[in-house]
Amino acid sequence: PIIYIITPTNNRVETQLADLTRMRNTLWLVPKIVWILIEDSTFKTPKITKFLKESQLSYVHLSEQTPDDLIIRSNEKTWSKPRGVLQRNKGIDWLRENSKDIDSNGVIFFADDDNTYDIRLFEEIRYTQKVSVWPVAFVGELMYERPICKNGKVTGWFRSWGDSRPFPIDMAGFAINLRLLLAHPSARFSNLVQRGMQESHLLSHLISVNELEPKADNCTKIFVWHTNTRKILRFGEKRLQQMNLKYDQYILD
Ligand code: UGA
Ligand code: MN
Repeated sequence: PIIYIITPTNNRVETQLADLTRMRNTLWLVPKIVWILIEDSTFKTPKITKFLKESQLSYVHLSEQTPDDLIIRSNEKTWSKPRGVLQRNKGIDWLRENSKDIDSNGVIFFADDDNTYDIRLFEEIRYTQKVSVWPVAFVGELMYERPICKNGKVTGWFRSWGDSRPFPIDMAGFAINLRLLLAHPSARFSNLVQRGMQESHLLSHLISVNELEPKADNCTKIFVWHTNTRKILRFGEKRLQQMNLKYDQYILD
């Protein structure tokens, strides 16, 4: 089965290409994937168009802009508003619209552009019958969140917050069989759900907890880390200007 990897990507000059390059290098090592990359933008930027073309991966390039009132301002906490919601929905819609031409046996995985992926994860999730789950490190104010499993079933969760979440799991902690997703046209993300509820909102349409398929050795191995790339400080640019040194930031594209 092919793994369809849905990645929203926010245009940010500081870290976007670094994050995407790290992810692309990972994906170079994974067979039989399609990378669905959705820019948070009204159009497909030349920068990402070139990046994808040069990657020679099998990819789909889309764009969908976050509406103005949901854009996170620099004085707001990054978690104050949902991120990547409409972009992921755009990816889901593409799969629905192209369902005749894609591998209906395939699997769908929502992989943010800044996480760290062990390539062994992909072989774990490739044979997902309905919905598979595994641990994710560095989330939920813990070193990891993970399902607690017994005899191949999920019986509980290590989680420190959000007891009302039916699926206390990060976006990077599950994969869905494509046929199951396509069979539920209303299964999608929403900007209207409470903070931290995106994953539960989607999965509640599709499955119940006792049907989840634990991967990564009964959810005892870490194959994905919810890493964040630190924003760099750029105060030095002013000093270069004062020295009349022309500092061209376009070489970053
Ligand atoms: C955490 C979760 O891991 C995400 O899966 C979840 O969507 C997010 O919180 C949330 O609560 O909305 P976090 O690392 O805090 O993720 O968020 P980011 O990595 O900054 O953003 C998630 C994805 O959305 C990234 O691929 C990013 O490039 C993209 N994004 C971010 C946009 O497309 N637009 C934005 O304005 C911000
Ligand atoms: Mn992230």
